[in-house]
Amino acid sequence: MKNMKMKEKIQGTCVDLNHQGMGVVKVDGFPIFVDDMLIGEVAEIKIEKVGKSYAQGTVLKHLNYSTWRVRPICPVYEECGGCNLMHLKYEKQLEFKKKMAMETLKRIGHLENIPIREIIGMEEPYYYRNKVQIPFSMDTNQTICGFYKKKSHQIIRLEKCFIQSRLATEIAKYICQLANELIIPGYNEKDGRGILRHVLIRNNVNYQYMVVLVTREKNFAGKRELVDKLVAKFPAIKSVIQNINKESTNVILGKKSLVLNGIDQLTDTLCETKFQFSYNSFFQTNHLQTEKLYNRVLEYAALSGTEVVIDAYCGVGTIGILLAKKAKKVYGIEIVAEAVTKAIDNAKLNKMNNIEFICGKAEIEIEKFTNTAIDVIVLDPPRKGCETSLIEVIKAKKIRRVVYVSCNVATLARDLEIFSCDYLVREVTLIDMFPHTSEVECVCKLTNRAGN
Ligand SMILES: C[S@@+](CC[C@H](N)C(=O)[O-])C[C@H]1O[C@@H](n2cnc3c(N)ncnc32)[C@H](O)[C@@H]1O
Repeated sequence: MKNMKMKEKIQGTCVDLNHQGMGVVKVDGFPIFVDDMLIGEVAEIKIEKVGKSYAQGTVLKHLNYSTWRVRPICPVYEECGGCNLMHLKYEKQLEFKKKMAMETLKRIGHLENIPIREIIGMEEPYYYRNKVQIPFSMDTNQTICGFYKKKSHQIIRLEKCFIQSRLATEIAKYICQLANELIIPGYNEKDGRGILRHVLIRNNVNYQYMVVLVTREKNFAGKRELVDKLVAKFPAIKSVIQNINKESTNVILGKKSLVLNGIDQLTDTLCETKFQFSYNSFFQTNHLQTEKLYNRVLEYAALSGTEVVIDAYCGVGTIGILLAKKAKKVYGIEIVAEAVTKAIDNAKLNKMNNIEFICGKAEIEIEKFTNTAIDVIVLDPPRKGCETSLIEVIKAKKIRRVVYVSCNVATLARDLEIFSCDYLVREVTLIDMFPHTSEVECVCKLTNRAGN
């Protein structure tokens, strides 16, 4: 390693991008991660941090620009921590994600020649998010709202956002304006004072909105007026919920909530099927891409109508209910009791009676299927991936097909390696659920090597 020092200035060429989309510059083989550098670009760089295996730097001056660089349409892109690839042409973002996924599957999962079929991008990669969480705070005597600056809790005021729905931005700005008019203070993380902590805004495909006001206290002056004015201005708001969070923590939602106006849930339509979700339910945040994801799950499950299927990690039952239309019987397993209640309601809403939901941990509940042969299992775990014990049970039961949906390629790679002695990775599809960020969703089809 070169004896690199903090504040040292160097000139370097970007040779790669790391998994967060930062440029990689090498000095005597030692990597320096630099924001805002693309492959082939040369820049003067200031070293900001030196660690054992890598350093971090910032660009002082670009000496050339990549032909793949574009001017980000967002005026606060460089400061905001929301997006990190907006300076790269969209088609190159997709290439980058595919390359990253392949490298990660190889490096962590030791999987060679991964059959990645394609990466499915968006035609219009803007205004796609149907869920946003906007922090509120105080700046001197004013209530403000916006997004956190990169690696900090300092708020950049919300003016525009090109990835969330336009109306969500308008709603948040109006709540901020009303908070100032009605003297409702934003929450101060440092001293725990103030009222309004976050505003969550969710919408469905028909642009009906749910607004959640996360507050430190249940009662505060101006609450009723705020809600009345809000729903009067935006008829698209069908639900206003108050969530109370008294804790001094980074966790956004508290345990208690109440409906302040309208209904307590929204109904969305995905793949011609209706799903209800409440303010705290897991529900995919990019509607168009979710349909593409779910259609690929159905294709990989390859159901003929005779199969018994498990939808592990089923959330409010979305994938399971779609599978049930093509299977003999589906069992959904989900750890969150409220999500299971919603999943049962969703099955009723769609008149599906060949699906059952079980509340519990997938890795425990699957062991109880001693007298039922399972043909196909769909796994859609949170970022941390599956428990090894769940994979071992799947292997022991010799389930014929596994469809693994993942929002974290690193844990997917780890888990696929555990599967690999008994299962063959037949195909992988990548779905760009979060354009302009370095995140990517994967769906994989695995078949049992024994073929039974
Ligand atoms: C990525 S979400 C997938 C939800 C659903 N498949 C969908 O597409 O909307 C993961 C879900 O797994 C649930 N979960 C987390 N750990 C679990 C476990 N050990 N067993 C069962 N469910 C779990 C979470 O509550 C969450 O609903």
